This record gives sequence, C-alpha cells and structure tokens, in this order.
Amino acid sequence: MTAHASHPMVAPHGGELINLTAGDERTTELKAHSREWPSWDLTARQLCDLELLMSGGFSPLRGFMTRGDYEGVCHNMRLQNGLLWPMPITLDVTEQFAKSLTPGKSKVALRDPEGVMLGVLHVEEVWLPDRKAEAESVFATTSTVHPGVDYLLNKSNPWYVGGPVEGIQQHAHYDFKSLRLTPAELRHEFARLGWRKVVAFQTRNPMHRAHQELTFRAAKTVEANLLIHPSVGMTKPGDVDYFTRVRCYQLLLSKYPQGTVKLALLPLAMRMGGPREAIWHALIRKNHGVTHFIVGRDHAGPGKDSNGKPFYGPYEAQELFKKHEAEIGVTMVPFNMMVYLEDHNKYVPDNEVPNGSRILNISGTELRDRLNEGLEIPGWFTYPEVVHELRRSYPPRHRQGTTIFFTGLSGSGKSTIANVLLTKFLEMGGRPVTLLDGDLVRKHLSSELGFSKEHRDINIRRIGYVASEITKNGGIAICAPIAPYDSVRKQVRQMIEPYGGFILVHVATHIDTCEQRDRKGLYAKARAGIIKEFTGISDPYEEPKDAEVVIDTAELSPEEGAQEIILHLEREGFIGVNGAAAAAENN
Ligand code: PPS
Repeated sequence: MTAHASHPMVAPHGGELINLTAGDERTTELKAHSREWPSWDLTARQLCDLELLMSGGFSPLRGFMTRGDYEGVCHNMRLQNGLLWPMPITLDVTEQFAKSLTPGKSKVALRDPEGVMLGVLHVEEVWLPDRKAEAESVFATTSTVHPGVDYLLNKSNPWYVGGPVEGIQQHAHYDFKSLRLTPAELRHEFARLGWRKVVAFQTRNPMHRAHQELTFRAAKTVEANLLIHPSVGMTKPGDVDYFTRVRCYQLLLSKYPQGTVKLALLPLAMRMGGPREAIWHALIRKNHGVTHFIVGRDHAGPGKDSNGKPFYGPYEAQELFKKHEAEIGVTMVPFNMMVYLEDHNKYVPDNEVPNGSRILNISGTELRDRLNEGLEIPGWFTYPEVVHELRRSYPPRHRQGTTIFFTGLSGSGKSTIANVLLTKFLEMGGRPVTLLDGDLVRKHLSSELGFSKEHRDINIRRIGYVASEITKNGGIAICAPIAPYDSVRKQVRQMIEPYGGFILVHVATHIDTCEQRDRKGLYAKARAGIIKEFTGISDPYEEPKDAEVVIDTAELSPEEGAQEIILHLEREGFIGVNGAAAAAENN
C-alpha cells in the first residue's frame, strides 16, 4: 500500500483537484484552431492567476470568473454554487478587445509576453464591472493608497471576460525549478514523506529570527511538519525581490530540525487584501495538501491609509478566518507578533511579554534604512548568513548605482559642470561612470528626433532608460539634457529610484545670462527665428520644484557647482566610505 492510500489527504476545496491542462490530442486540435481566434497578451498578474487556475491551486475554479461568481464573491465571499471563495479571479481586458468578443461563441488565445499560447478561454460573458464597488466590497476601501485598490482602479483594464479555460502549457519558469511544486506535486511529496499534518507559512518578506521562531513554535504546537510557502508572484510594490528572498529562505532551512521542513514557491499574485486574503491563502494551501495555516499579525496587510491609520485591524484576519474555519477546512494557527526579550535573549509573542521586560524589534523600513546606510544589523534580529545575502542584493548606498540628472536651459552650464563631475568620479574610482550629455545623446541615440514636446519626451525617456540600466548595474550615470518638462523628469525618477540613487540637479542660470554667453550662437539664431522651438525663447521650460541640488552658474564656478553635488552625494551616503559604511563591509 502506498503512503498516499494509507493516509487520505486533506480534500481540495470543492472536493476535486482541478487540472485544466488539455491532453496531447486536444492541445494539437486547439493549436490548429487558434489561428482564427483573437489573442490576449496576459499581464503579469493574469499570468500568475492562469498558472494557479491551470495547476489547481485555485480549485474549484475552472476558469476566469463569470459575472454570477464574481458578484457572489464580491458581496458574500461565495461562488454561485455556495462554496466559500473570497477573492475575484477575473480576466480584465481593454474596451476595444471586449467589444470584439461574442459571448457564448468567441474563444481567446491567452498568450505569455513572448506570444506563446498558454491556454484558451471559452468566452461566456463579457461585462463592464463597477470596479469601485468591487474595491469597496473586497478591500473595504476605495482609497488608492491601498495597493490592491490602486491595481484595481488604476492599473487593471476596465472590462472583464469570464468563462472556462483549457490549458495548453504552463508558463515557463527557469528559476528555482526544484522548488516550484504544483498542488499535485506537493501532495505527492507529502504522501511520500508520510507528512499527515502540514502547517504552511505564507510570506512575501525575507525571514528573520522572529519568523523562524514563530514557524518553529507553530509546527511544534500542532505537532505538524512545516511548509515554508512564500509568494513569488507579484507582491507589494517595493518588496525585496524574490530571488534574494528565496536565497535567504534556503539559508534558513538548516535552522529547523532535519526532516521537518520544506520550502516551496507559490506563483501567487497577492492583492494585499488582509482578512479576505488570509482565507484565500488558506484555501490555496489546502489545495496544495496543507492541513494547518499560520495567520499572524496583519496578515497580507496593505499598510496604512493616507491618515496613517491601518486599513485593517492587526488581528482582523484571524477573526474572519475563525468565523469560517470549518468551511475553509484548514486549521488556523494564530500567532501574535513575535518580539525579542533582550534580558532573556529569546523571542516570545507580544501577548506573553512579562511585565517590565525590555523588548526589541526592527521594522522592515528600518532594516532597509540600515542596509542603505551600511549600519550594523544585530545578530538578535537575523542570522549573519541572511544579512550577508541581503547585503549582496542591497549594498550600502556608496556601492549602489546612481544617476545625476541635470536639467536647465541651453548654455546654463550643465555640460561643463557634468564634465567636471565626471572627472571627479574618475579620480575617486570604484564605480564605472557614463556621461550622457544632451548633444552626445542627440548624436548617438536620438539623431532622428526634433524639438517638439513629443520628441523631447521621447529623448528624455531614452536617456532615462539607459541611465536606469547603468544604475541597476551599480554604475554612475551623469545625464545633461535640457529636459524642460516636469512630467517626463518625474517618469525618469520613477524608472531609476527602485535601483539606486536619483539626484536631480537644476542648473538655474538665468536666461539673460545664458543669452549673454550664447556660446554656440543659438540664442541669436533663435531670436532671429532661424531656430524654432528654442527653449526659453520660443519654447517652454518648466522649472523643477523637486530638484535635490540647485546651482546658479552666475554665482558659482563649474568646480564649485560640481562640489555642491559631491557634498550632496556624500551627505546622502552615495559616495565616501565613512565609518558607518565601513561597518557594512565587515558585517
Ligand atoms: S531636450 O529638450 O532635453 O530633449 O534637449 P537636449 O536633448 O538637451 O538638446 C539640447 C541641445 O540641442 C541644441 N538645440 C536646441 N536646444 C533647445 N531648443 C532647440 N530648439 C534646439 N535646437 C538645437 C542645443 O545645443 C542644446 O544643447 P545645450 O547643451 O543644452 O546647449
């Protein structure tokens, strides 16, 4: 008898583990017909959703929700057949695409970004949902400070298409392959290992000592084996990337008793829906063969609203879970926040702290700040191996890439200061430096462009793209275009800031001074109407209000201007190995 047969495993939600992948013959048939069907290029979130639909992670769902299921889920957390399901799983499309479909007739080829057909959607319904009402019922708010609401109202498409899906092939992953286990594979693995009770831990963050202690205690309390099951689909914007996280989780495995812990990755696109999301997470884990689920403080929390008030109460997820626990079919293992008791050198839940004890904690934001500044990360907080791994991905600022982005009128002195700055960086050494000067870019990257707003914006976006690649790879990019428009400057900032520093330098030399200098004779030509759309004369220049450094070359020499920038970079930690930064190297 196999282990599977002797220990009937927890039933999937709805009783059957769904597998939407069509057989070989059917796949050939579908592929042959697909020529006639419209194609939909799946968004990053839809790719994750399709993967879990196809593998049965979302059992009992057999496709993207139709209107009845969607409304039942929004209003009562139930599918039309009465089963508990807290999160809408919908295919959002553009109005134009929606209008090209005939409900009950059309089929849609669902494709990955490379154009590979992953599945077929049999279109049953097409409708324009009230996304604000959806936000209100699912997330209990319409504030776009909530990342789930922001996605729903600002990023998703306005129309929904529902219907059953037939899977052709799973979206290809080339990373951490041995850790990507489908529900059927995990169930098989648990049966093989003889794991009857499994408690799962969901996470979107690196795990530190508090998490190790919490998961270890949870497993011990319910006498279960532990599944560390991080979400590696889309998580909250700004989170530590999952490659780094997975390396950290792998390091942590040795901290548990051997043979009692397993790591598997879940391609889930989180919604940060707090209480509803906790139930959803547990149902997904049940489909993966899990019997117990840890719900901690502020599970899948979206953070605070614009008034600084948390969107959900810290234990609201536990309360909602408790109410539906029997139907969920997974036992909740509730946990309070773990805190470090300094005098006892151990972690305890915050409701077990003895009176008068000194407790220590480091928030995610503080950890980020410490990494940025190269400050010490104490051993009581996390393991040295984990710190080492985090530092590799998030080096202190003086080893991160940086973009210094000049903006200012023609002849304001941008290029001269940029060149001085370039030589200063070369003199310092340590990081590769590239100068993307306005004229040089126009020659090599943007030779076909003119000076209309549209063309100037394209030019600046190109510069921004190159600078973001340089920054991502740890180099210094010095950009010196006129960049007269505020919105595209802000776009460039957003492209770069996730990867390193972005310092906007406004060379604020007055137009009269620029014109008096007229080094290239361009102002004279502009005045004579020989050059059209000339910035400051016949074209606008929007003064930045968000510049980190402002330099007026009527008052400062190029060396003095460059020095102002160097001082700013030093103050922000982007250059110079000071005492604090040196600590990082040794930690
Ligand atoms: S922009 O707006 O940022 O795309 O402009 P940029 O790429 O920096 O190009 C500016 C250089 O092109 C020359 N030039 C003009 N500038 C402004 N307006 C018009 N119509 C124009 N025509 C040519 C000028 O030499 C600019 O170089 P700098 O170094 O700024 O003087």
